[in-house]
Amino acid sequence: MFGWLRDEMVGQSVEILVPQALRNAHRRHRSVYAKDPVSRPMGLGMELEAVRKDGVAFPVEISLGPSRDRSGDLVVVCVVRDLTQSQVLRRVASARVLAIESERKRIAGELHDEVKQGLTATQLHLAALVQMDVAPKDAAEMVLGVQRDLDRCQDALDRAIRDLMPIELERWGLGFALSILCRRAGDDGFAVERDIRPTGGALSAEARLAVFRIVQEAVNNVKRHSGAATATVRYWRDGRVVRAEITDSGGGFSSDGLDPHRSVGLANMRERSRIVGGRLTVASALGEGTSVRLEVPVAFPVPQQEDPE
Ligand SMILES: Nc1ncnc2c1ncn2[C@@H]1O[C@H](COP(=O)(O)OP(=O)(O)O)[C@@H](O)[C@H]1O
Ligand SMILES: [Mg+2]
Repeated sequence: MFGWLRDEMVGQSVEILVPQALRNAHRRHRSVYAKDPVSRPMGLGMELEAVRKDGVAFPVEISLGPSRDRSGDLVVVCVVRDLTQSQVLRRVASARVLAIESERKRIAGELHDEVKQGLTATQLHLAALVQMDVAPKDAAEMVLGVQRDLDRCQDALDRAIRDLMPIELERWGLGFALSILCRRAGDDGFAVERDIRPTGGALSAEARLAVFRIVQEAVNNVKRHSGAATATVRYWRDGRVVRAEITDSGGGFSSDGLDPHRSVGLANMRERSRIVGGRLTVASALGEGTSVRLEVPVAFPVPQQEDPE
C-alpha cells in the first residue's frame, strides 16, 4: 500500500508514512496516546491522509489498538485502510446526483416558462372572449394569439418529453435518433455536420442511450461554449467497437481551469461511458477546438457452447 519494502521500513519511524507537514503533530499525538492507550479510530471525524514512498498522499482510515510485547513495552497495532476507491465512488455518485438535479431543473424551467405561462395567457384570453369583453374585430386577433400560445406550449412540451426520453431512439434506433438530434441542434447561427453510418444494431439498449446522451451533451457544449459555427458528429462501427466523435474548431478549453463541481456535463459523460464499458477521451486546447471521442464495445450474442468432440 505504501510502496516500501518490508526491509526498508523496519527500524524507521512511523512518521515516514505521515505527510511531511503533519509529522511533528503526529509525534505529539503519539506521546499523548501512549499515556492512555485505548483501542479507537485515529482522528475520528477527520479526513486522514497517509503518504507513499513516492511522496503521493492518499486518503486513509486508521484504527489503533494498544498491546504489550514480551518485555511488557507498549506496542500499537495500526490497521490502515486505503480509501482512494471509496472516495472516487463517492465523487462519482455525487456528480450523478448533481447531473440529475440539473437536468430536472432545466426541464422544470422550460415547463414553467413556456407551458405554464402560455396556458395562463390562453386562459385569460379565453375568459375575455367568453364574457364578450372584446370588440368583435379584436376577437379574431385574440383567437390567433391563443393559437400561437398553444403552438409554443406544444413545442416546449415536445422538447421536455425529448429531454426526458428520446422516443425516436426506441422507435427507430440510434443512427436515426442521432440524425434528428443533429438537425434539431442547428439554428440560425449554428449547424451540425454529420456522418452517421448504420451499425447494424450492434449496441445494447443501455449502450444506445449512453451514446445518445453523450453525443447530446457534447453537441450542446459545442453550441453553448465553443463559439464555433459548426460541430461535426461522426458515428460508425469499427470491428468490435462502435465509435462516435464530436469535434469543433472553436475556442477550446483547458482542463486546469475547470471547476470539477461545475463540470457536471463532462463528469456525466465519463460516467455514462464507464457504465457501458466504453472509453471516452476529451481533447481540447485553448484556441484549438475540442474533440470528444467515444468507443463502446458491441454487444455480442452469447456464443453457443462448442461441442468438445
Ligand atoms: N466544445 C467545447 N468548447 C469549449 N469549451 C467547452 C467545450 N466543452 C466543454 N467546454 C468547457 O468545459 C466546461 C464544462 O462543461 P460541462 O461539464 O458540460 O458543464 P456545463 O456545460 O454545464 O458548463 C464548460 O463550462 C466549458 O467551459
Ligand atoms: Mg455541458
